[in-house]
Amino acid sequence: MTNKSTHPIKPLVAGNWKMNGLRASLAEITRLKAGLGDAAADVLICPPATLVAAMADAAAGSTLMVGGQDCHQLAAGAHTGDISAAMLRDAGASAVIVGHSERRTDHGETDLVVRSKAEAALRADLVAIICVGETADQRKAGRTLELIAGQLENSMPDMAHSATTVIAYEPVWAIGTGLTPTPADIVEVHGLMRDRLAQRFGGDGHAFRLLYGGSVKPANARDLLHLANVNGALVGGASLKADDFLGILAAYHA
Ligand code: PGA
Repeated sequence: MTNKSTHPIKPLVAGNWKMNGLRASLAEITRLKAGLGDAAADVLICPPATLVAAMADAAAGSTLMVGGQDCHQLAAGAHTGDISAAMLRDAGASAVIVGHSERRTDHGETDLVVRSKAEAALRADLVAIICVGETADQRKAGRTLELIAGQLENSMPDMAHSATTVIAYEPVWAIGTGLTPTPADIVEVHGLMRDRLAQRFGGDGHAFRLLYGGSVKPANARDLLHLANVNGALVGGASLKADDFLGILAAYHA
C-alpha cells in the first residue's frame, strides 16, 4: 500500500505565469531568489516562452529552475508559432508543463497529443509536468476518479520515470476561481493516482511527485500541501508575485 513516510519525496513547487509577464517582471525573480534560502522544496517558474532565456539568466547561481508552459510534440519542422522541447532546453529550461487544462480546452489537446508532448519533453531531457483534472460537470456527475484514471493512463508515456515526470492534479473548476476541493477529495484523487502509478510502474510508481494545483495561495498552502500523496503544488495567479509564492513555499518550513 502507499505509505508516504517510507518513500520520502522532495516536494516541487512550480509556478505557471501563463500569458503574463514582460521583461520588467523579472524583478520578481530577483526577489524570489533572495527569499529562497534553503527551501525544503524544489522551485520552478514557468514564464511565457519569450522570457525563458532571460529568466534562466536571472536565476543563474540559485537553485531556482525555469520551465516552459507547453512544447510541440515534434522535434522540428514547419509548425509556425510552435516551440520544440529542445528549443526550451536550449533557452535554459529544465522542465515543461504539458496538457494544462487551458491547452486542452483552448487548443483541443487530447490525451494522446499530451502524451506525445510529454515524450518530446523527455527526449529533450526536460522534466515533463503532465496535468490532469476534471471539470465541474464531471465532478457533479460522479465521474472524477474514472476521468482522472483515464487521463493519467493515456497522457503518460511508457518511458516516464519518477525522476523525469511529474503529475499535476488540477481540477478545472478550481483554477483561478478561489475554489478548492476538500482535503478528503484531494486525498482521494491523489491516492488513486498513486495506486495507478504503482500498478503501472511498480516500485517507481511510489516515487513520482504528485502536485496539487488550483487556487493554491499562501493562506491555504499549509492545509493543502501536507495531505497524503501531495508532493507539491502547481501555482498560477499566486506565482506572479514573489511574496505570494514565497508565502506558499513557507508551508514547507518547520
Ligand atoms: P491558479 O492556477 O493557481 O491561478 O488557480 C493554477 C494553474 O492553472 O496551474
